[in-house]
Amino acid sequence: MEYLAILKSAYRPAIDNCGRVFNGNRFSYPGLTIDRYNNTLLVQFFDKDCLDNRDKVCDSILQFFSNIFEVDALWYKDRTILKDVKMISKIRESVLYYGNNERFAEVKHNGCVVEVDFVSGQNPGIFADMREVRDRLSSYYFEVDSMLNLFCYTSVFSVHALLNGVKNAVNVDTSKQVLERSRINYRKNSLGVDNRDFIHNDSGLYLKKLVKYDRKFDIVIYDPPTFSRNKKFYFSVKNDYKKQLNLISQVSNRYVLSAINSYSVSRQEYLDYHPKNWEMLFFMNEASDFYDSSDPYLKCALWQIS
Ligand SMILES: C[S@@+](CC[C@H](N)C(=O)[O-])C[C@H]1O[C@@H](n2cnc3c(N)ncnc32)[C@H](O)[C@@H]1O
Repeated sequence: MEYLAILKSAYRPAIDNCGRVFNGNRFSYPGLTIDRYNNTLLVQFFDKDCLDNRDKVCDSILQFFSNIFEVDALWYKDRTILKDVKMISKIRESVLYYGNNERFAEVKHNGCVVEVDFVSGQNPGIFADMREVRDRLSSYYFEVDSMLNLFCYTSVFSVHALLNGVKNAVNVDTSKQVLERSRINYRKNSLGVDNRDFIHNDSGLYLKKLVKYDRKFDIVIYDPPTFSRNKKFYFSVKNDYKKQLNLISQVSNRYVLSAINSYSVSRQEYLDYHPKNWEMLFFMNEASDFYDSSDPYLKCALWQIS
């Protein structure tokens, strides 16, 4: 009963049936989020107590949402803080609680078709919290021919840009797997796939190469993780963000969209990372279905390089 009342008070319909339909943080119920992808629900448990009550929570969710649409499946993810990060990819895999076990789906987001994978990774393939930022960017694309998408993940920024008038995009990521998923997203939107546009490299090293060869782009998308490390590459906002923005000054002809996804970096710290002569054209936080006015995590702005 208690869970049903909470769900009822906080539910919001998702745009295009893809987005956050329950945002625990926003409604004083930290520890639980529910995302809808067509008729599949992905429940994320950030809180151990909440996870311990998994069956009760999931049954209430199914009961509540079945009155709104026909739920095909419910997956859940353990997002609680881990002691052993070696096991992270296994623990972050979603578990099917109810319904069909089809792990892939195609969703509509910002007018693009995006493939989601409910099972692997922390995120199923789409950062829906960027929806409003992408929408806002559309009005600048008429004067943009080329995009450099650093830390591209599944290349949703590029797909959206190419469908909205941008002529070419280069995507850079250290994960071969997400570059393959980027190609899949291109194909699903009938965009030509040229392998030269998918670069398996560290964004910092690639930026240095671009500066050396004096290669430029009309817009650079710069949306790194707060921290990342693999066998070869290391990135941290604290050490690298400012340095890489300075390199981007030499690579962008005109615009830079930069973002930081962390509660730990304040709006002012984010702004201070940018060169003083850049002009900010707009500033945004996460999309309204993810938004918590007391503590937004996403700081994102479009800058013009003067
Ligand atoms: C926050 S996601 C980017 C989200 C993306 N902008 C979007 O809206 O879909 C971060 C990505 O950075 C990649 N990454 C991490 N370290 C990297 C590095 N040093 N160079 C390039 N990519 C890196 C990860 O593999 C991941 O795909």
